[in-house]
Amino acid sequence: MNTSEEKGRRTFLGWVTGVIAAVIGATVGIPLVGYTILPALKRREPEWTDVGPVDSLPFGIPKEMACIHTIADGWHKTTTKKSLWAVKDKTGAVMVYSPICTHLGCGYRWESEQQKFHCPCHHSFFSVDGKVLSGPAPRPLDTLPTKIKNGRLLVIYKEFKAGSAAKIEL
Ligand code: FES
Repeated sequence: MNTSEEKGRRTFLGWVTGVIAAVIGATVGIPLVGYTILPALKRREPEWTDVGPVDSLPFGIPKEMACIHTIADGWHKTTTKKSLWAVKDKTGAVMVYSPICTHLGCGYRWESEQQKFHCPCHHSFFSVDGKVLSGPAPRPLDTLPTKIKNGRLLVIYKEFKAGSAAKIEL
């Protein structure tokens, strides 16, 4: 065999080896990247939380409810207990409010005698439908996404920027 044939064979074998290595690398590497890196790059996705039966809500009277808030953040799932305010109107429609005052982020309560929500920090008052009645709050109470499924109230817990006239999700 002359040297040019040997050189051609070596080049061909080198090329075949390179293709096989690339195929093996892709076969192993692509699923590995998908399995390890992509979940970490995913946006934090809040989940629907079951906060209880809709029948437990009285008509027209806000009720404070507990919400187990779970966020999937890549590999990690974090769970925290939050509260929220739910109001069922006469038609059976349910409105759910974030428990955080839109002024500077304090917690507020329903004052049944006054029929208003009251934030004690700087005395903002809100109506049962979340509108600002008085005080420094720059916007109505923040509503949360809700749906009713099989008689259960489901909520996505979210938080919004305090002190802003616009409702900006954090
Ligand atoms: S934080 Fe509620 S009125 Fe200021």
